[in-house]
Amino acid sequence: MYTEQVMEHFTNPRNMGEIPDADGVGEVGNAKCGDIMKMFIKVDNGVITDCKFKTYGCGSAIATSSIATEMVKGRKIEDAIGLSNKAVVEALGGLPPHKIHCSVLAEQSIKAAVSDYYRRRGIDPLPIVGEIHECEGCGI
Ligand code: FES
Repeated sequence: MYTEQVMEHFTNPRNMGEIPDADGVGEVGNAKCGDIMKMFIKVDNGVITDCKFKTYGCGSAIATSSIATEMVKGRKIEDAIGLSNKAVVEALGGLPPHKIHCSVLAEQSIKAAVSDYYRRRGIDPLPIVGEIHECEGCGI
């Protein structure tokens, strides 16, 4: 049911924890399952130098959080915004259809952290990041 990559990131999550002096923090939740994902980013010269997560949720939510942190670390902030849940699912070698929404949380939490980063710098994130709606287990 779960790929090796999912099991690996679930049992050995990367970058778990928080960054006390983060430059951006984003928290999103899924209204249906009640899971919550919180992302912390550290940005230097427009590049995400560190990214950590705290997730209260299912194994897929842990795995998608973990791989998402790896996918944005070292990337320019404007590239990180483009991280899609599809890319997260692909990097994990797939997710069961009823678990796709867990990857949506990963995309949204990164976007929320980036939005917070812009907000702290006095920049309106909406034209850059767009709106972040709470994930409702859309099943896409
Ligand atoms: Fe809710 Fe995975 S079941 S995020």
